[in-house]
Amino acid sequence: MARETWSTRMGFILAAVGSAVGLGNVWRFPFITGQEGGGAFLIVYLLFVALIGFPAILVEFVIGRYTELNPVGAIRELGSGAWNYLGWLFVVTGFVILSYYSVVAGWFLRYTLIGITDGYALAGPEEAAALFGTVTTGVDSLLFHAVFMALVIGIIAAGVRNGIEFGVKVMVPAIIVLLVALGAYAFTLDSAGEAYAYYLTPDFGYLVANWTSILPAAAGQAFFTLSLGMGVMITYASYLGEDRNLAADAGIIAGLDTFIAVIVGFVVFPFLFAAGIEPGGPGPSAIFVSLTSAFAEIPAGRVLGIVFFAMVGIAALSSAISILEVLVSYLIDELDVARVPAATAIGVAVFLLGVPVTIDLIFLSLYDSLADGVLLVLGSLLLALFVGWVVPDVARAELGRGIGDLGSLGTAWIWIVRVPIVVVVLVSLYLGVVDY
Ligand code: PFF
Ligand code: NA
Repeated sequence: MARETWSTRMGFILAAVGSAVGLGNVWRFPFITGQEGGGAFLIVYLLFVALIGFPAILVEFVIGRYTELNPVGAIRELGSGAWNYLGWLFVVTGFVILSYYSVVAGWFLRYTLIGITDGYALAGPEEAAALFGTVTTGVDSLLFHAVFMALVIGIIAAGVRNGIEFGVKVMVPAIIVLLVALGAYAFTLDSAGEAYAYYLTPDFGYLVANWTSILPAAAGQAFFTLSLGMGVMITYASYLGEDRNLAADAGIIAGLDTFIAVIVGFVVFPFLFAAGIEPGGPGPSAIFVSLTSAFAEIPAGRVLGIVFFAMVGIAALSSAISILEVLVSYLIDELDVARVPAATAIGVAVFLLGVPVTIDLIFLSLYDSLADGVLLVLGSLLLALFVGWVVPDVARAELGRGIGDLGSLGTAWIWIVRVPIVVVVLVSLYLGVVDY
């Protein structure tokens, strides 16, 4: 059977951006930054995206485009022996991430609906926190988790081409416009100066004192936000029918993803400071609490809020799709299962795995620290070792296809993958496991 390929030249980059931009930027980034001390975390995070995330995107791209296979098949074709188990790690990681990702995405759908039925006029931070409590527990949370997973299954069952490209073209620009507008409004708040100082000034004393938690948090967030460590970018690059400049594409993806995360910080922190909330306090509720207070104050805040929560829901959809696609492409390619039953069976299993998260948020932190602190980091470590030490020549040649002669840049890339990535990730993994 001929494999599907992207329908337009833009299709691949749109899908990869769609996978990268999601809850990792809007929901996870601001609360992790708040928990890890603001500016001290931000600087490490930015360094990690540039020095580790960007080369790691290329690691996945070359494997996918060279083999034109799903991650499990790709590793089997290139490697041998124990490497065959790496694909299984991706499958496990995909299950865990998608299960809680869908629950959180369901909250964004719920907040969209709240805007439509009631608006966001809440009396203050306590009421905002109370609302978050109702949305995130019990039947509400379960119902919207189910709705979200049904959407993800539907799109994946319909096939890669039809589902993904359109949503991304509309929703990424819309999110950027809304965030910039919200950031401009936040700039006018009295709390803005204090918030920017917290967010942008790296406190090196704090960094030195807390590096054992900042380092793994920054590495994990970099991999999570760029969709690395579980084969998504391998899968997407496997549908690439032509020679593209993979490095340019990776640069666009990493740059856009980082830009969106950074402007989310410019929105969230001024509003948290304005409400007198400690930036590290709210955890997973940070974006919801700060935005509901923002939308309560801003003229036309209700409409803005509805649009914003809906857009993030769609952004989450294009990311969730990429995760389910990894799991489904495995079943299709390896076990010859048809697309529709594969998508349905896996989607239902993922839904069930997510149910505990709708009952108690303790499972959210359990799943999230397992996925982000351990599984994604381990996956990225093994991929770096594999490309850097097992198939470096194939990888370098594949990177050059579509770029031309790489010269010493190719060698530099291989050495970054071989040593710095491996060392940083090993340390992060060790600290993450100890923490878990
Ligand atoms: N990168 C996505 C985000 O930032 O929301 C989340 C994600 C997608 C993580 C796909 C991992 C993955 F494989
Ligand atoms: Na992201």
